[in-house]
Amino acid sequence: MTHVSPFTEQDNAILDRILESRRSVRSFAPDIPPKEDIMKIIRAGLLAPYAAQAVAGQDFRRFFVFQGGSPQLAHVAALGKRQVQRMAEQLSDELAANPSSQDQGQGFVKRLERLAEVGIPGIGTAPYYIVVAERRGIPPVEQQSLAHCLENMWLKATALGLGFQLVSATAQMGQDREFCTVLGIPYGEFGTNGCAIGYPMKRLSPVERPDAGKVTKWID
Ligand SMILES: Cc1cc2nc3c(=O)[nH]c(=O)nc-3n(C[C@H](O)[C@H](O)[C@H](O)COP(=O)(O)O)c2cc1C
Repeated sequence: MTHVSPFTEQDNAILDRILESRRSVRSFAPDIPPKEDIMKIIRAGLLAPYAAQAVAGQDFRRFFVFQGGSPQLAHVAALGKRQVQRMAEQLSDELAANPSSQDQGQGFVKRLERLAEVGIPGIGTAPYYIVVAERRGIPPVEQQSLAHCLENMWLKATALGLGFQLVSATAQMGQDREFCTVLGIPYGEFGTNGCAIGYPMKRLSPVERPDAGKVTKWID
């Protein structure tokens, strides 16, 4: 039996070009992308898989768009700083109790302390900060689902010529009651993650990765 792809070679060439062009953008122009583009990116996020068995048919995913310069963005930026400060203190305590990992951990504590001072990159440094909340099911696999969702959003943003930065500290911020109140989600029922979106300050070169053949073992 012959299997025919519904997609042409040209479709695949375009998909490959988008995959190769996806980069972490960490510097954004002040110009504000249209809301329609943001809604297209959110639609792409909704198309990503979700853990249907774990969440048993309940509403599984919600999106929250914070716009640059808004009072609520300033509010969540401050909550982010507070959260990384807490993480630094917690990690410091853990390292004190487990001196064998001191050397490795101290560097990370310093980085967290720095973020607590200057703020989390992506929250307030781009025209949009988008939080995605995924229902926590049984088993709790919401962060895996969020990763799929964010990758879809990332690829769509790339296809639209927009820059995208993951803001993974948003996962820890989801453990903060005040942050959940700002979002209007019940505390403890959702996991969160997020990203920053805007026009890239400069175009980055395509991704560089090892040859697929070099990192693949075929097992008979
Ligand atoms: C789980 C995970 C979390 C990440 N968190 C952040 C983040 O918070 N901020 C950031 O700028 N990049 C973050 N990144 C992006 C990586 O640093 C980036 O993908 C990597 O350096 C490769 O660069 P590229 O995305 O341009 O291919 C994260 C990536 C992954 C997979």
